[in-house]
Amino acid sequence: MDDPTPEDPRPDEPRPDDSPPDDSAASPLPDAQQAADDFDLAGLDCRSRAWADISTSALTHNLGVIRSRIPSDMKVLAVLKADAYGHGAIGVARHLERVGIDMIGVGDSSEALELRDAAVGSPLLILGAIVPGEMEAVVRNDIATVIHSKERAAMLADVARALGLRARVHLKIDTGMGRLGVTPQIARTLARSIASNPHLSFEGLCTHYGSAASPVPFHTADQLTTFVRLHEEIRADGIALPLVHASNSAAVFSTLRTHFTMVRTGLALYGMDPGNLPVGASPLQPVLSLRTQIVYMKDVVAETPVGYNRTYVTPRPTRLAVIAAGYSDGLPYALSNRSYVLIRGERAPIVGSVSMDYTTVDVTEIEGTTVGDEVTIIGESGKRRIRTEDLARTIGTIPYEITTRLGRRVARRFI
Ligand SMILES: Cc1ncc(COP(=O)(O)O)c(C=O)c1O
Repeated sequence: MDDPTPEDPRPDEPRPDDSPPDDSAASPLPDAQQAADDFDLAGLDCRSRAWADISTSALTHNLGVIRSRIPSDMKVLAVLKADAYGHGAIGVARHLERVGIDMIGVGDSSEALELRDAAVGSPLLILGAIVPGEMEAVVRNDIATVIHSKERAAMLADVARALGLRARVHLKIDTGMGRLGVTPQIARTLARSIASNPHLSFEGLCTHYGSAASPVPFHTADQLTTFVRLHEEIRADGIALPLVHASNSAAVFSTLRTHFTMVRTGLALYGMDPGNLPVGASPLQPVLSLRTQIVYMKDVVAETPVGYNRTYVTPRPTRLAVIAAGYSDGLPYALSNRSYVLIRGERAPIVGSVSMDYTTVDVTEIEGTTVGDEVTIIGESGKRRIRTEDLARTIGTIPYEITTRLGRRVARRFI
């Protein structure tokens, strides 16, 4: 039996020969067709088998929450790298420009140029380490970059000189993150040399906290102390920097006063818990919902293997639904046999291995399920909700990894 309709008898008993049902005996599929039509009529983007709803009102709300945590004259840089953490950088940038954003942070020059090509006019800052091949485009397009070393500062100045332009730079100091950034020992000297270089426009100083969400903020406090000292020394050298920034989302919600003239927020903007919000009482609203649809259903007998490598075998007669999203769409393989999706407001356990384009779920307990039904992988359905943070916890990862892995073919629908 294929694509069961509500009228189809449920296979309460195993078939006499205990073999999987014969698809060739399938009845015509009028209801499946109807469901597909309904799907069209519901106004969903039926060209996409899976889609992400991006709530612009949640984005606005979260930006408001972030602004409420900081002084009114402090700037907010929205971190839109990795396609706005998978949410769709152009759409997010356009919305933020409508409601007011001071600066946008990206990961590399391709992300910066994509935004410029889309007529996003906000000041852009490349947070990552630019490589020599990116420098000309960055300078020509007046995109600011974070500088992490003496050598890269000199290279960028050479490129700007050759073009007859000035490159905007923010100097990053590694105060304890142990990743990009000059050491505190050379920060002051490099700041002097950047400030005196006619081909560089020194507009910012920054650092990055490594564990701002920690309930015991000793490391953040240490980083802060170092950064404050260096900032004061640089200021004492007569270098006035308009943009001084350190705080990420977790730091915005920290009890420490970690901010300077700007904060750089990503996760909180997208409504995800940076790790230090009260459980169950987050003031943030999730921005992203990830959805797909049922494309195929069948009733199978007990002992039917499901998916690659038979990692699941039905313990009883089961109604299976195949949903049109797999790990290439952003439904992590690690969720195989470990979690559920929501259909008609109910939980449908993931059974078998998640595959590249499809995932199979058990809908035996969900009344009336049919082909074309909407499936929620992340987001709300009826009274239930699956949060990105929940999925991340289930598979031992971080929310950033879940949303940044949303596939290219998942349409981003700004609502
Ligand atoms: C340099 C830098 N600043 C700020 C952020 C934003 O962090 P969050 O998303 O936790 O707010 C990131 C994100 O990875 C980053 O790399």
